Amino acid sequence: MKKEKIILTGDRPTGKLHIGHYVGSLRRRVELQDSGLYDRIFVFEADGQALTDNIDNPSKVRSNVMEVALDYLSVGLDPSRTTLFIQSQVPELCELSFYFLDLVSVARLQRNPTVKTEIGMRGFGEGIPAGFFTYPVSQAADIAAFRATHVPAGEDQEPMIEQCREIVRRFNHIYGPTLVEPEIMLPDNSACMRLPGTDGKAKMSKSLGNCIYLSDSADEVERKVRSMYTDPGHLRVSDPGKIEGNCVFTYLDAFCRPEHFGRYLPEYASLDELKAHYRRGGLGDMKVKKLLAAVMQETLEPIRQRRAEFEKDIPSVYEILRKGCEQAREVAAATMSDVRRAMRINYFEDMSLIDEWQSAGKEE
Ligand code: TRP
Repeated sequence: MKKEKIILTGDRPTGKLHIGHYVGSLRRRVELQDSGLYDRIFVFEADGQALTDNIDNPSKVRSNVMEVALDYLSVGLDPSRTTLFIQSQVPELCELSFYFLDLVSVARLQRNPTVKTEIGMRGFGEGIPAGFFTYPVSQAADIAAFRATHVPAGEDQEPMIEQCREIVRRFNHIYGPTLVEPEIMLPDNSACMRLPGTDGKAKMSKSLGNCIYLSDSADEVERKVRSMYTDPGHLRVSDPGKIEGNCVFTYLDAFCRPEHFGRYLPEYASLDELKAHYRRGGLGDMKVKKLLAAVMQETLEPIRQRRAEFEKDIPSVYEILRKGCEQAREVAAATMSDVRRAMRINYFEDMSLIDEWQSAGKEE
C-alpha cells in the first residue's frame, strides 16, 4: 500500500492570530491544502496545551477557540479539505499521552530546549505545572494519533518532533510496528519568515501591543502601518536610510509582489529598486509606508471579508468545529484501537483472555 501523506499542525488558542502567524504558518497551510498533494490534512486548536499555563483562566482559552477558528476559516482553510478540530474534544489524545509518558524519561524532558526557554520566560520558579513540563509528550500523542507523516512548524518545534519520533520508535520497538514517525516541514525561508513587531522588536506579541491582527479593521491597519518603526537615523528625506532592521521593509519582503508596483508605485519596477533608492537617500518613509499600507490592505481585505461572512453565521462555524471534532475523533479512535491491541490492553476485544486466565488458574 502506498504510504499516505498526512499533515497535522496546530496552534494554542491563547489569542487572535496576527500577520506574523499568517506569514509564518497560515499562508503555507492554505498552499499545502490547495496543492492537493496530501491525503489528509488536520489543523487543530491545542486548547489542552494552552491550558497547561492558563489553567486558572480557562475563559481566555474558551473565547480564543472561536477567534482562532474564525482566523483559520478567513485565511482560506476549507473544512471540506482540511479537518479543523479542538484538541480537548478528542479524549483519545489523553489516553495515548498517558502511555507515551512511560516512554520518555524525566531527564529527557528536561533537555527539551524549547520547553526550557518557555519555562524561563514564564517565570514559574518552583511551580512548573507538570502538564506544562510534559506537554511535548501530549504533542507527540497529537501527532501519532493521526499518523501524521508531515508536521509543518517553525524551528522552535524541532525538539518536539524529535521527541515524538523517539517515542514512536520506542513504542514500535517494544510493541511492533504500529505508529508512524513524522517529519517536520520547516518553513522555506524566503516565503515563511518571522515578522518583527510594528515597533521593530524581534517578535509580535500581544503584551507588547505591536501586532497587526488578521481581524483588524482597514483603519486600524492603516494607523498601525503609519506609526511603524523605521530607521531612526533616517531623519530627513534626503538622508540615506537603512533597510536592515527597518521593519517596513521586512514587511514588504514578506508581502510585496512585483505586480504591486504597477498598481501602487509605478515609478519603481521592483522592491530592490525601492530599497536602493532608500539606501541612497531621497526617499521618504511616508512613501514607503503608503506602499506597504496598500499592499497590506490588498492582502487582508479578502481575509476580512471572509471573516465578516463567518461572523454573521457563528452557528455554522460551531457546526464546522463540531463536525471536525467528530471526524478527528474517529481517526484517533482507530489508532487507539491499534495501540491497545499492540500493547495487549484490549482486554474486552480479545476473547483469548478468558482462556489465558482459565488455564492460568488450572496451573496452580
Ligand atoms: N506547540 C505548538 C505551538 O505552540 C502547538 C501544537 C500542539 C502543535 N500540538 C501540536 C503543533 C502538534 C504541531 C503538531 O504552536
